[in-house]
Amino acid sequence: MTALVDTFGRIHNNLRISVTDRCNLRCTYCMPEDVTFLDKSALLSFEDITRFVEVAATLGVNKIRLTGGEPLLRRDLPSLVKMIAAVPGITDIGLTTNGLLLANQAGALFDAGLRRLNVSLDTLDAGRFFELSRRDGLPLVLAGLRAAKRAGFDPIKVNAVAIRGFIEHDAVPLAQFCREEGFELRFIEYMPIGADVWEREKVVFAHELLEWLEAGVAPLAPAADYDPRSPAMEFEYADGRGRVGIIASVSRPFCRSCNRIRLTAEGKLRNCLFALDEVDVKPLIRAGDDAGIRAALLANVLDKWEGHEINSAKFVKPLRTMHAIGG
Ligand code: 5AD
Ligand code: SF4
Repeated sequence: MTALVDTFGRIHNNLRISVTDRCNLRCTYCMPEDVTFLDKSALLSFEDITRFVEVAATLGVNKIRLTGGEPLLRRDLPSLVKMIAAVPGITDIGLTTNGLLLANQAGALFDAGLRRLNVSLDTLDAGRFFELSRRDGLPLVLAGLRAAKRAGFDPIKVNAVAIRGFIEHDAVPLAQFCREEGFELRFIEYMPIGADVWEREKVVFAHELLEWLEAGVAPLAPAADYDPRSPAMEFEYADGRGRVGIIASVSRPFCRSCNRIRLTAEGKLRNCLFALDEVDVKPLIRAGDDAGIRAALLANVLDKWEGHEINSAKFVKPLRTMHAIGG
């Protein structure tokens, strides 16, 4: 099988699909308050997305993650999950959501074949939730998490962005909550991809988070099954009660083992979260031009650079903010 191999030898089997750029929160680290969303008519349909996945699967893509904006704002997302699950070669489907609309949809998503679930939650404090996301919603997220557990999702991952000024208050309570509820907490180092002013001083690095958890929760050790190529550094509590991951995107970039490509909600292919160029594949999808889609995928992957340059003076922030790329 022809595979999506780039000039650095990386094989791309992981496709992240943004199904909408809309969101019911306005997290400061992700989007501006006065955001303009795409017109609904610009979005790929479920049939378009599935067609693209079918072609990508012939090039070795087997893992899909649905993102947004907030993917649960897209009507009837379980149908899309079902359509993608039926594509030959797709073995794994995940969803990253802010959880606000999860309570009503968790059961249907599980029944449609979704198994991996990441819920973004940065704080258990309603005031800081509002400060970070400019909206209320904490009780809904908590209800969504409970519903997901009842529906049978296991593991359920909770993503928290680690921003100085916030996470020092929240790391320990979040960790205790996740340990009690059986959720896997993953901290993500704060990246320059939102509309806000990113400063290196605002990034809370992995080593600090670990110190706080060890002091405030329980001793941690590297997880036995930890795969150094995976984006998250994985740790287990020494007493065996739970695990924690840290995605050290800034202090320990995982670009060298990156296996991801991205499709935006309006059908643009991006080979990196921080890519400055993108390729419009919507016309190819609409024309049913599978050979054209394959060629675009192969060329886009060959164009991929070695990695983001967050730590260098060369770094250029992409024009699109996170909500329009899809985490
Ligand atoms: N830095 C790190 N993570 C971010 N996310 C959104 N913006 C940023 C950022 N600037 C995370 C969200 C969500 C995932 C899709 O990406 O919290 O969990
Ligand atoms: Fe919405 Fe997620 Fe962006 Fe927050 S981080 S505004 S929940 S898309």
